[in-house]
Amino acid sequence: MFTLPEIAGDPSRLTRRLMRIDGSDVIFRPLTHADPELLASFLAGLSPESRRLSTFDGYDLATARELCDAIARYDKLRLVLEEVPAGRIVGLLELSLDLHPHDVVRFREAGIQLSATDGRFGPTLADDYQGKGVGTQILPLIADVARGFGKRRIILLGGVLADNARAIRYYRKNGFQAVGSFAGTNGVRSLDMILDLDLPSGQ
Ligand SMILES: CC(C)(COP(=O)(O)OP(=O)(O)OC[C@H]1O[C@@H](n2cnc3c(N)ncnc32)[C@H](O)[C@@H]1OP(=O)(O)O)[C@@H](O)C(=O)NCCC(=O)NCCS
Repeated sequence: MFTLPEIAGDPSRLTRRLMRIDGSDVIFRPLTHADPELLASFLAGLSPESRRLSTFDGYDLATARELCDAIARYDKLRLVLEEVPAGRIVGLLELSLDLHPHDVVRFREAGIQLSATDGRFGPTLADDYQGKGVGTQILPLIADVARGFGKRRIILLGGVLADNARAIRYYRKNGFQAVGSFAGTNGVRSLDMILDLDLPSGQ
């Protein structure tokens, strides 16, 4: 089983090359301490709509530095998609290895007992990479990483906004099941979804 310090020390263990996307080679790899500038460009390039659908604390170099400083310091693994050799980050994939107490309560109310073998997933692709099957291509890689950390199910980090039709379609077609809905602090409705990594659709 992997640990976060091991992956931080040897990111190549989780590095995979994807097939060419839109004529560019893309690799899937852990975020590293060398990434603040590349990550800042990715965050800064997200459209207002992408920022609404997938919210970060900020979209600048300071935020990117914080995310890179956080590597192996908390129970969260961040992976990126990088165009090579251009060196442009075109996706940020977050895998949280722990649960938020609010998640545990909501899922329990829906009849699902979450445990230490459940992780949380949140994907964000650059605007020009959305809607081209890239998210579907990387989901088996995410599932493998999650299994490597001892996870058997994945829920969504913060849920998915109920009006995010593309993401909901994406999750459903890749084996996630809707569990229920909840209103966030801003009153906006989101859905909880869960993927069972032991089922064939989660591979
Ligand atoms: C959500 C996200 C990761 C999905 O990855 P992706 O590569 O775009 O997804 P895919 O192309 O593999 O699949 C999208 C599916 O939704 C469909 N779709 C596209 N736009 C849609 C829309 N407006 N309504 C419904 N379905 C839509 C696509 O046709 C495709 O389904 P199909 O293969 O059956 O035709 C990506 O779109 C993204 O980063 N979006 C912005 C941030 C975000 O919403 N993150 C999720 C936060 S919970």
